[in-house]
Amino acid sequence: MTMSPPSTDATEPTGAVEPPGAASVPPSGRTDVVDLYLKHIGSGRAVMGRVMGGMAEVRSEGAWIHADDGRRFLDFGGYGVFILGHRHPAVVEAVHRQIDTHPLASRVFLEPVAALAAQALAAHTPPGVDYVHFVNSGAEATEAALKLARAHGRTSVITTRRGFHGKTLGALSVTANATYQTPFQPLLPDVTQVAYDDPADLEQALAARRDRACVIVEPVQGEGGVRIPRPGYLRQVRALCEAYGALLVVDEIQTGMGRLGTWWGVDAEEVRPDVLLAGKGLSGGVVPIAAMAATAEAYAPFSRDPYLHTSTFGASPIACAAALATVRAMEAENTVARAAALGLRLRAAVRDVCAPYEGGLVREVRGQGLLIGIEFAEEQAVGELLLELIARGVLVNHSLNSTRVLRLTPPAVVGDTETDLFLTTLAEALHSTAERMPG
Ligand SMILES: Cc1ncc(COP(=O)(O)O)c(C=O)c1O
Repeated sequence: MTMSPPSTDATEPTGAVEPPGAASVPPSGRTDVVDLYLKHIGSGRAVMGRVMGGMAEVRSEGAWIHADDGRRFLDFGGYGVFILGHRHPAVVEAVHRQIDTHPLASRVFLEPVAALAAQALAAHTPPGVDYVHFVNSGAEATEAALKLARAHGRTSVITTRRGFHGKTLGALSVTANATYQTPFQPLLPDVTQVAYDDPADLEQALAARRDRACVIVEPVQGEGGVRIPRPGYLRQVRALCEAYGALLVVDEIQTGMGRLGTWWGVDAEEVRPDVLLAGKGLSGGVVPIAAMAATAEAYAPFSRDPYLHTSTFGASPIACAAALATVRAMEAENTVARAAALGLRLRAAVRDVCAPYEGGLVREVRGQGLLIGIEFAEEQAVGELLLELIARGVLVNHSLNSTRVLRLTPPAVVGDTETDLFLTTLAEALHSTAERMPG
């Protein structure tokens, strides 16, 4: 694995594997990245890098990531970030412009690009969810929501089993995964896990807490293994929160920004949360940014006191420029409708490819929009298939809170050729995996 500066050359032909040496790695000045990881970042990540093939990623555009060994990879993973693909030209241009004018602010004066980004985002959030607090990561958006809930006296948090909301200390308290939680106990007190897609379980928890509760829920559990609740679930959650005086936080960090074929997962049921969390795709795949959006009533404590919850780099002009350009690009290119149409086609095709293995290697294919999960009978199959796909030039993700589910979160910008290439590669990789794991 070697490290090299990124190239701006985007003229290479499509195809999973480029001839060795076709990428922009200079022959001299190479650094052993695995070695640097071992010495300065951590042995675990270094070993994982080796298992994944030992390459380092050095460049990207559209649905493609280029490695330092000359190969390129079709990115159908990206942890849900790249709904616009990598380095969308409009986002890159906006960020360049911001760098050339005013990348970070003094924070003494007002910042126009933050105001415009908030306005652009609020144009698509559910009616009344008009106030936006920008942060730098999804976990920070969760932290902001938990603190906002506290400011309203909601000291008790109800989360869902397999729910994922980030890994900072507060966010981790509501991320229902013992593997990540146990080493860091004690976490926030008074957090209750209820079954996902089970309004009765939620009601029982709410009844015991009444006006002290905050509920945090995903419209579809992404890291939980692409769990899709029954129609009407979110509406029932909303009604229960109203009945018991609870604050409703809907975490759309993975499901939002068009990922489900709608701007937000709540749109399908016309649910208005008190607080909505966004991240991942909001970056345009270029600069990290996330947001906590809220109704005027819910947001009031943050609105009154701008120093109640702050961070030096939160709402930085450079990140806000990326978010603003992202929303505008999505509007101009009908990204949400494209995600819906592509998702429909891709889900059906992935089901067809997996059909011969159903009842054996594969348990189920499920998804909404461009969030698609393949559940396997055994955990080992996820790792095997992931490596088979990498060997053939395709990237996908596992699910952090559901080890038997492989997750596909492709960009909405992929074309027919790329989709067909993905499907052929998936069929080949499944065939190889099934031969090695006949079950
Ligand atoms: C639903 C959800 N919430 C929160 C997070 C945390 O976001 P980040 O990794 O940017 O902190 C994630 C990340 O996968 C997520 O899927």
